[in-house]
Amino acid sequence: MAVDFNHTILSARNSETSAKFLAEMLGLPAPRHWGPFQMVTTENGANLDYMDTDGEITPQHYAFLISEAEFDEIFGRIRERNLPYWADPSRTQLGEINHHDGGRGVYFEDPNGHLLEIITRQYGSGGWNP
Ligand SMILES: [Fe+2]
Repeated sequence: MAVDFNHTILSARNSETSAKFLAEMLGLPAPRHWGPFQMVTTENGANLDYMDTDGEITPQHYAFLISEAEFDEIFGRIRERNLPYWADPSRTQLGEINHHDGGRGVYFEDPNGHLLEIITRQYGSGGWNP
C-alpha cells in the first residue's frame, strides 16, 4: 500500500499574501485558489493550503528538502528580503545556517510566524543525530 502525504492547512492572516510568499521564496509555481484555500504545491505533489483566520494562529513547522543549488537561490532570497534566519529551530543562532549531515539547513518565518526550514540532506542521512 502506498501512502503519500497529500496536504496540510496553514492558518493565515492573509492566505493570498502568505501563499504568494511561500511560493516565491521556494521558487514554486504560483498558488492556486480552491475553496477556502490558497494552495502551494511542492515537487512531490503535496499541497500546503493557506486558509484565512481571524482567530489566534499557533505557529507550526514545515520543512522542505531541496538541492544545494536551490539552497543558494532560496537563501539568496532570504537575504535579499532581509528576513531573519536561524541555524536552529529554537531560533537562538540568528544569522547562521547549519551543516547537519554534511548539507546545509536554515530556518525562517512566513508572514504568520510559521517556522519554515530548508535542508539539502534528509535528517540523519549523513549520520547526524542530536
Ligand atoms: Fe525540522
